[in-house]
Amino acid sequence: MITAHSLTKHYGATTAVHNLSFEVPPGVVTGFLGPNGSGKSTTMRMIMGLDAPDSGAALIGGRPYCELVWPLREVGGLLDAKAFHPARTARNHLRWLALTNDIPLRRVDEVLDQVGLSSVANRRAGKFSLGMSQRLGIAATLLGDPGVLLFDEPVNGLDPEGIRWVRHFLRGLAAEGRTVFVSSHLISEMSQTADRLVVIGRGRLIAETTVADFVSRSGRGTVRLITPDLAAFAEALTGAGATVGDGDGASLTVEGLSAPQIGDLAAREGLRVHELMPITVSLEDAFMELTQGEVEYRPTTMAGAAAAGEGE
Ligand SMILES: Nc1ncnc2c1ncn2[C@@H]1O[C@H](COP(=O)(O)OP(=O)(O)OP(=O)(O)O)[C@@H](O)[C@H]1O
Ligand SMILES: [Mg+2]
Repeated sequence: MITAHSLTKHYGATTAVHNLSFEVPPGVVTGFLGPNGSGKSTTMRMIMGLDAPDSGAALIGGRPYCELVWPLREVGGLLDAKAFHPARTARNHLRWLALTNDIPLRRVDEVLDQVGLSSVANRRAGKFSLGMSQRLGIAATLLGDPGVLLFDEPVNGLDPEGIRWVRHFLRGLAAEGRTVFVSSHLISEMSQTADRLVVIGRGRLIAETTVADFVSRSGRGTVRLITPDLAAFAEALTGAGATVGDGDGASLTVEGLSAPQIGDLAAREGLRVHELMPITVSLEDAFMELTQGEVEYRPTTMAGAAAAGEGE
């Protein structure tokens, strides 16, 4: 379990994280979503004891990182995929990490095997591709067999196969009962990887919820209704307090009543229902809607927006 209590962090005049509280429970993958510069990495650094909060606390299993006796056995963190000495082999990188935390050296070969790097264990890590570096970083997080794992943008720069591998790997770790906290700006990716979400904007909490709830909450409860009894249905719906919009001449869009409520109304009034569909928004739409105004670096003109889009 990771707990953030009213975390606040300033860098000069910049408020990177403001009064941020959330929980990351074990057994599920919790996604950490936010626009660029919203404070995800800063929060993860505070959890890992690499940055001190100005106020508040980040706890791992109820204790701050600095109080963990053998930190690698309690928490594994991948914050920077290239955080190794480039001249050291993958195996030697993991060996020195293991020695610092009194971890048996046999774990080195076990974790290399787990991430699929056994065949390149004696190659210099500096020559690794980004995907191989990410795997080595993941291997390092697993060395001490910790119950809590953090990954900052672990799929950044990976090809589709690498992304799929990381996704399955993280889900597997959560299924073993571990606490898995993973940041990403790839919203579609999060919807396939995470069960829960902590969403932030400008260092502040926007939502802490399940992926399904996050999507439905921003769907505004709109339902599309296809019926041959258009006029009578519209009247009944309005009478029941709903807001009714015209569809394409054969359907109605209804706000303010759920699909089951509309179905019940139809039964009471003897109106015919041909189709009844709650309109769900994508995770991406929900995210854009909820982080409106929270994006720190946004082009101020449409020309700027077009130019920014070109670079992606
Ligand atoms: N070491 C630092 N010194 C000064 N400002 C910093 C430092 N680290 C982060 N910041 C600022 O704090 C804010 C949050 O940055 P952070 O890197 O935590 O965001 P992020 O959500 O991880 O962004 P990204 O999606 O781009 O990785 C930004 O305004 C950033 O410029
Ligand atoms: Mg970051």
